[in-house]
Amino acid sequence: MCITSSRFLLVTLVALAIALPLGVAAWRPWPHHLLGNATANTMSVGGGGSGTTAAAAAAGIGASKKYEGSSEFVKLRYHMGPVLAANITVHPIWYGAWAPAQKHILRAFLRSISAPSAPHPSVAAWWRTVRLYTDQTGANVSATVFLGAERSDRRYSHGRALSRLAIQSVIRDAVNSPRRPLPVNPRGGLYLVLTSSDVAVQDFCVQVCGFHYFTFPAIVGYTLPYAWIGNSATQCPGICAYPFAVPPFALGPRTADRPPNGDVGVDGMVSVVAHELAEMASNPLINAWYAGEDPCFPTEIADLCEGIYGTGGGGAYTGQMLLDGHSGATYNMNGLGGRKFLVQWIWNPYLSYCSGPNALDH
Ligand SMILES: *[C@@H]1O[C@H](CO)[C@@H](O)[C@H](O)[C@H]1NC(C)=O
Ligand SMILES: *[C@@H]1O[C@H](CO)[C@@H](O)[C@H](O)[C@H]1NC(C)=O
Ligand SMILES: *[C@@H]1O[C@H](CO)[C@@H](O)[C@H](O)[C@H]1NC(C)=O
Repeated sequence: MCITSSRFLLVTLVALAIALPLGVAAWRPWPHHLLGNATANTMSVGGGGSGTTAAAAAAGIGASKKYEGSSEFVKLRYHMGPVLAANITVHPIWYGAWAPAQKHILRAFLRSISAPSAPHPSVAAWWRTVRLYTDQTGANVSATVFLGAERSDRRYSHGRALSRLAIQSVIRDAVNSPRRPLPVNPRGGLYLVLTSSDVAVQDFCVQVCGFHYFTFPAIVGYTLPYAWIGNSATQCPGICAYPFAVPPFALGPRTADRPPNGDVGVDGMVSVVAHELAEMASNPLINAWYAGEDPCFPTEIADLCEGIYGTGGGGAYTGQMLLDGHSGATYNMNGLGGRKFLVQWIWNPYLSYCSGPNALDH
């Protein structure tokens, strides 16, 4: 049984710190990384919040050309469950107040995943690492990711403070709405609940920037993989939209990078959306690809590379990113229509380190 209450997390932090693979470079600027020798891994189901020591941060910078999360201790294993091998259709649910320009950024990212026409290094090339994961039948994660029907929940139907379970109720309402319900697609449907910056979500900014799981038939009527990602702009951009914002507490002389689409919160969300999609595709029912022994706290293919955006990345160092000469924005891959995005890398099971399309040396 997976218990995800904070109290449970607290008492298991020590055990987790020992059980989780050492040397993994996943990093976000959570306050506890900076305020002491935090070895506790704060990831909860579906992650988005794994972490390692401040020492790893120091070691990552310039320690090894091939840092990028590489570690002989990472034992990523396949647990016999399905991956998303059928065409994937992503259904965004816009919860709260979303500006059209914000939706355009996230839609453009989703449409870019299956758009090989974008210039190198492309979002589509980034997805190729996710496609390396297969199931028992030898089927790879699908190359095709469609943007499907969407819904807006402008009236905050479940309030402005959501528990983890309430996210499932938002999905239940979306697929059962009397007017234009979202299609129920158990073969390749993914449901993304995106909360606007004025919505508080359980564990948001404290332990996670997003998470994924699957819905319970008792709540939604079906078992559907879903994810939640929050806009951190007003709550914790220095954590969840790093490096487009830096935390108010000590991080050295780091200044914020300019976001490629001009929206700190939403440009920061892009990488978390990418993180959750990669994990949903390779571990949709939390019984396929993950490291660690406990399925309540799986370390998944994007957790292993959190905070790594380029060659040399690891610890607190993002790795080598790209600079847009016109806007001065920082990014690492191209999407459709000239859009640029900053997206974290993904664990490559053959190389046994994190990889991405903007790698300089492979
Ligand atoms: C971190 O740990 C080291 C050795 O274990 C110790 O010397 C140092 O004072 C600790 N730093 C903090 C901030 O607790
Ligand atoms: C999957 O998507 C491809 C386009 O990428 C399309 O040609 C194919 O018909 C789709 N398959 C199904 C079963 O919908
Ligand atoms: C499918 O996965 C296998 C095993 O990881 C890999 O060798 C192959 O290149 C993948 N195919 C595609 C099209 O990505």
